[in-house]
Amino acid sequence: MVVTGIAELTTNDGALGKLTDAALVLDGDRVAWVGPAADAPAADSRVDVEGRAVLPGWVDSHTHLVFAGDRTAEFGARMSGQPYAAGGIAVTVDATRAATDEQLAAGLRKHVAEAVSQGTTYIETKTGYGLTVADELRSAVLAGQHVDEVTFLGAHLVPPGMQADDYVDLVCGPMLDAVAPHVTWADVFCETGAFDEEQSRAVLTAAGKKGLGLRVHGNQLGPGPGVRLAVEMGAASVDHCTYLRPADVAALADSETVATLLPACDLSTRQPLPEVRALLDAGVTVALASNCNPGSSYTSSMAFCVATAVLQMRMTVEQAVRAATLGGALALRRDDIGVLRPGARADVHVLDAPSTTHLAYRPGVPLTWAVWRAGVRQR
Ligand code: NIG
Repeated sequence: MVVTGIAELTTNDGALGKLTDAALVLDGDRVAWVGPAADAPAADSRVDVEGRAVLPGWVDSHTHLVFAGDRTAEFGARMSGQPYAAGGIAVTVDATRAATDEQLAAGLRKHVAEAVSQGTTYIETKTGYGLTVADELRSAVLAGQHVDEVTFLGAHLVPPGMQADDYVDLVCGPMLDAVAPHVTWADVFCETGAFDEEQSRAVLTAAGKKGLGLRVHGNQLGPGPGVRLAVEMGAASVDHCTYLRPADVAALADSETVATLLPACDLSTRQPLPEVRALLDAGVTVALASNCNPGSSYTSSMAFCVATAVLQMRMTVEQAVRAATLGGALALRRDDIGVLRPGARADVHVLDAPSTTHLAYRPGVPLTWAVWRAGVRQR
């Protein structure tokens, strides 16, 4: 199939760059050809996007979609001045444990469909609202049936009634043994009120020995050891990065670890927005993700994250779009998504606008016009 009439094509490929008056050929689940419209090869079918902008589908590299229950009251209290605290996770843990498999699967289907309809074509999600061996295993298995990549986050919170060190032993032992075959990644919430540096290092070390890739929730609620630990452990990504010291930025700049920023979460928890200019100026690879979850960031809209990154964090549109596509891919250590070049997965997002600038120029307006996910049209 050939896509024609592309006014602006963002490829994220160094050689191809950004094209105007372009065309794109999809063959099955892959991109087969990218180039000027005048040179487009013949294909068995054609879609004319009539002067719209085309970009890779959003890569949402940080979500928590295996949950039940509702935290509207907590959100309301926060908007009246209460601070966000890690302990709120326990409310969702209770609801998730009480839910049936079908209820959790229905929630996953609903939230994945919501994201895809807004241009997201690749989704990572985490366990972390089970916190028993059986509930974490169930979360991992269900997640694997609905999203592209699954992360084990047994170290999300010490469950009420347990001692932290006993719980870390459970996470590093029987829980990891049970869940590891069903996930690609392991993560830890390294933060005051969750897991300290030593506990976090123990979880990451045990997960690394099982062959899992590593990710860290770090520096969300205050300066802390999360970023440093992520770099030390060779994590693919450290997520949040809301409170960074110059040494954290320098450590990231010297590493392969991606800084994943979650601006919808910072707004929803009334935290400051991260200092992204310092990261970009230092050469750190930045990703943007939704952090969709019922507590700290209940949105699946990557377009909202991009608009916020441009309007309030002072990224350029190009930087924000790249961070929400290729940046997410790099945070997941993938080279076949977040990019439109021959051989890449056919994840294509068409905007009802002539350029990606409209994502920030028209904030809050639903601009997704068409989506292909692995070559299959979604809307
Ligand atoms: O990334 N920070 C830890 N985990 C989630 C919040 C989960 C919740 O509050 O339910 C986050 O923000």
